[in-house]
Amino acid sequence: MTKKTKPTFRHLIEMGMLDKQAIGYLFQNAEHFLTSSLEKDALQKTLSGKVVTNLFFEPSTRSRHSFLIAAKRLGAIVINPDMSTLATAKGESLIDTIRTFEAMGTSLFVIRHSDNNTADFIAAELSSNASVINAGDGDNQHPTQGLLDLFTIHRHKPNFPELKVTIIGDILHSRVARSLIEGLHIMDAQTIRLVAPTALVPNDVDQLGVQVFHTMKDGLQDADVVVALRIQKERMQDASIPDPNKFYQQFGLTSESLAYAKPDAIVMHPGPINRSVEIDSSVADGPQSVILEQVRNGVAMRMAIMDCLLT
Ligand code: CP
Repeated sequence: MTKKTKPTFRHLIEMGMLDKQAIGYLFQNAEHFLTSSLEKDALQKTLSGKVVTNLFFEPSTRSRHSFLIAAKRLGAIVINPDMSTLATAKGESLIDTIRTFEAMGTSLFVIRHSDNNTADFIAAELSSNASVINAGDGDNQHPTQGLLDLFTIHRHKPNFPELKVTIIGDILHSRVARSLIEGLHIMDAQTIRLVAPTALVPNDVDQLGVQVFHTMKDGLQDADVVVALRIQKERMQDASIPDPNKFYQQFGLTSESLAYAKPDAIVMHPGPINRSVEIDSSVADGPQSVILEQVRNGVAMRMAIMDCLLT
């Protein structure tokens, strides 16, 4: 296969920064790291001597640790602090913390924060030529999750324009959905459907280039790719959190509702999963599920992104 041209970008803040050519390069690079590093338990030291600083101001299992593993597989020096032990707890500002890590030689900051646009803000305030990756900001963007989702789809069903993709659940608060929808458009996917209760559909849905459904039967018909999303309680007032039993009855991805999709549809979920709320265990652990493949692909995709930014 011909090696694709490496794109030039310093930061990765949102999916919309990328084009089809750049995503194609990242697919190729992620495939390379899957086979040359993950499958062989081998290091690929392209970031040898570089310092990568993970700053996760929100809980995370997948993103935080896959960035950590990816950076170590690339030979970087990785700082991955428990945020409660940083001097921010003594009143140091976010930017002073960033400047401190810049002074220690950080080449790349990986930022997760509950406030929208924090990664963008940090990128604009840097005093060095370090890079910034947005590892999820509020309900805004989660571009590396979007890229690992696209990569997982590409490995199973590479013909994006022909795909029918259905995303189910709390779209309103989902940065994952926003990044994935943008990425699917970049890859020329023609049919993107959302299935959600009216209260969990974003106000700007008309600008997202999607079809909206309120029943699983209508939204899942002949789908090739099915994405279930968690209800993001941490971004809701208590009164607006849906009753989990009622939500499961109407929007839970079960064997019965999945039967509306194509028999070879793949089932995805960015995690963390709330079983028996948005997805049944028989589906999450079933033969169509690629949920743990997404996690594994996430390490390779994050290696691909960091390698692209820093080499
Ligand atoms: N998908 C995702 O971002 O999961 P974490 O919150 O565990 O990182």
